[in-house]
Amino acid sequence: MAKWTTIQLLFLLVWVTEVGGAQSRDRTELLNVCMDAKHHKEKPSAEDKLHEQCSPWKKNACCTTNTSEEAHKDISYLYRFNWNHCGQMAPACKRHFIQDTCLYECSPNLGPWIQQVDQSWRKERILNVPLCKEDCESWWEDCRSSYTCKSNWHKGWNWTSGYNQCPVKAACHPFPFYFPTPADLCNEIWSHSYKVSNYSRGSGRCIQMWFDPAQGNPNDKVAKFYAQVVDGAGLRGPWAPLLSLALMLLWLLC
Ligand SMILES: *[C@@H]1O[C@H](CO)[C@@H](O)[C@H](O)[C@H]1NC(C)=O
Ligand SMILES: *[C@@H]1O[C@H](CO)[C@@H](O)[C@H](O)[C@H]1NC(C)=O
Ligand SMILES: *[C@@H]1O[C@H](CO)[C@@H](O)[C@H](O)[C@H]1NC(C)=O
Repeated sequence: MAKWTTIQLLFLLVWVTEVGGAQSRDRTELLNVCMDAKHHKEKPSAEDKLHEQCSPWKKNACCTTNTSEEAHKDISYLYRFNWNHCGQMAPACKRHFIQDTCLYECSPNLGPWIQQVDQSWRKERILNVPLCKEDCESWWEDCRSSYTCKSNWHKGWNWTSGYNQCPVKAACHPFPFYFPTPADLCNEIWSHSYKVSNYSRGSGRCIQMWFDPAQGNPNDKVAKFYAQVVDGAGLRGPWAPLLSLALMLLWLLC
């Protein structure tokens, strides 16, 4: 009798997790997708003319040529964001922000980290993307001599002039004042869109902001790996129906 009850409970558990799983984004939707945000295309596809720093994504991109060009401008049409809010940002620093914009707008590999949000300007965001540690470290290193007035660049600006300016109470200081470590910069600046990884570039376990497209996009396999992780966690995946079938047989035979 005790055996019966255990098996029935297991069967119920599998059924519940499967039904629950069907309501979240399923596995295929985590790969090769674009988020539902302000400028993203509906689906990734080739874009032959992507501009400069965004060109690594040209074989398969969520951004248009227009978005890739705008990503290189100050106070661009994309978000009217002013990188020079505490004097001119050093070009060596700015190129990391341009690359960050290219990754955000163009990457078809961010599916495992897409979350729904209730924001006027977008329906989805990214959360805790595992950025390769070297990409974060060089971003922080190259920005050490530039100035800023805030550690979260998503919120709290003065937008009265049509682009972001420092609010009066926020003083300009070199980056390390607001971002003491590389992790502080990468994790905090966009409200945890990134979570710096302990993994290195080339490991296949972290997202590269910078890559040489000659060998393809290294983030394809990173997304595949994390899509399986996300999937396995919910007792979903291709083996879930098999498991419930096995349990059902056991149930009938007992
Ligand atoms: C991109 O498109 C917007 C809106 O149509 C336009 O205002 C802007 O000038 C375009 N940018 C480029 C570089 O073509
Ligand atoms: C916002 O910026 C405007 C124009 O630059 C300025 O007059 C105003 O005092 C600022 N307000 C705050 C709260 O910083
Ligand atoms: C990160 O890697 C270092 C060196 O390989 C290791 O000592 C540390 O425990 C790792 N940290 C995490 C959070 O995995």
